[in-house]
Amino acid sequence: MPILGMLPAIRRDPIGTFKRAALRFGDVVYFKIASRRGFLLSNPDAIRHVLQDNARNYHKSPLYDKLRTVLGNGLLTSEDEFWLRQRRIAQPAFHRHRIAALAGAMTEAAADTAGRWDAPASAGRPVDVDEEMMRLTRSVVLNTLLGGDLGPFASRIDQAWVVVNQHIGESFWSLGFADTLPTPKYRRFQAARAVLRGAVEHVIAQRRRNPTDTNDLLSMLMSARDEETGESMSDDQLRVEVTTFLLAGQETTSLALTWTWYLLSQDARVRQRLETEIDVVLEGRRPEYSDLANLAYLRMVVDESMRLYPPAWGFSRQALSDDELGGFRLPKGWLAFVIPYALHRHPALWDDPDAFVPERFLPERVAERHKFAYIPFGAGPRQCIGNHFALMETQLTLATLVQQYRLHLLPGHTVNPWPLITLRPRFGMPMIVERRRHSAST
Ligand code: HEM
Repeated sequence: MPILGMLPAIRRDPIGTFKRAALRFGDVVYFKIASRRGFLLSNPDAIRHVLQDNARNYHKSPLYDKLRTVLGNGLLTSEDEFWLRQRRIAQPAFHRHRIAALAGAMTEAAADTAGRWDAPASAGRPVDVDEEMMRLTRSVVLNTLLGGDLGPFASRIDQAWVVVNQHIGESFWSLGFADTLPTPKYRRFQAARAVLRGAVEHVIAQRRRNPTDTNDLLSMLMSARDEETGESMSDDQLRVEVTTFLLAGQETTSLALTWTWYLLSQDARVRQRLETEIDVVLEGRRPEYSDLANLAYLRMVVDESMRLYPPAWGFSRQALSDDELGGFRLPKGWLAFVIPYALHRHPALWDDPDAFVPERFLPERVAERHKFAYIPFGAGPRQCIGNHFALMETQLTLATLVQQYRLHLLPGHTVNPWPLITLRPRFGMPMIVERRRHSAST
């Protein structure tokens, strides 16, 4: 369209529009979206160039400004020296050996969910797996990284985050002013933001009242001192980072799990193979960190699920100075769109791209593929800090729950991917819980 360009199409159907454009026009596709111009990248080399090789020439795009209205200027949204400082403060909490020590808390949370499913399984009543996984991953972040609970905000946080996610997700593609008009919708957004803020302040106040020596992520954030000034993080900045971790840690991991349950319910072959692997390796006991090395198929299932339904379905950068991409000039100020949803289903990179085939992630097949054909956690310096944490949590959760339950999508339910900030199931994920067997250990 003359002035709006691709804006109306993207507003209507972001993932479909990007996917079709990549299929029809090739590796580097010019996009005009209202006043912004940029390229959609589907070539793994070009993606590596932007995210890794020439990452210094790129900042997160202005679309992240919308995210800043909730997350502030924190680890996910900040740039340059400030970002690096925050990343260095948080990084030790995500070292492999520290994460391995969190396995027990992760399986404990999964066992708790298993207990919650006992009654619906007996009654044949569906559970909303989307809600269940949000609850589970939130409790893991709170227990392992932030060491607290949400007090009076616990019951309102899921709904608040859906409202925020929808408001920001939809406003990515709006003209700016429209999403701050004092409409009922905007007021709902403000109320939801207040719930998130209350929850985060509760977590911080709790810790201040009861300082512990757990040395978890929250205590690292609270005790960090600026090398030059010796000052600690301001209250505002602390709130920003705790909000970032609470949301980034809960939402995406939960969606990875929900989409995996959905895919398993649609494919008896994969489900049976997974059940067999888990039953043989674990023999009915709770999984431990060391079991993960023997649960190779489980890892492939998780990888394949995030290929088809990448929770972070798209992200973008803005060029700080002119650059060249696959033979095209990318002028300063233009955007580069990286859309894992389209990339992960591109027929030039994947055989039968829409099919659920975990065997694609056999090590020898991964070795044949371009590393940047599969980027559910992003790549380069801004790669997800929580990737190992998230992978371990998804695997331990599935290993615990698959032993006991088999989930079936509620007959007649329409599953519709909803690309907001994250890729959610638009109408939830109601599933019938069938009990496979009682496990003495859980
Ligand atoms: C399956 C689960 C997850 C997925 C798919 C995911 C995906 C991503 C992606 C794609 C990015 C990069 C965004 C960009 O380049 O613009 C990112 C960054 C980030 N993620 Fe995750 N994430 C997951 C889990 C987690 C967890 C568990 C945490 C924390 C506990 C976390 C915290 C963060 C943070 C703080 C950043 C910003 C890092 C930086 O810029 O230095 N994520 N994530």
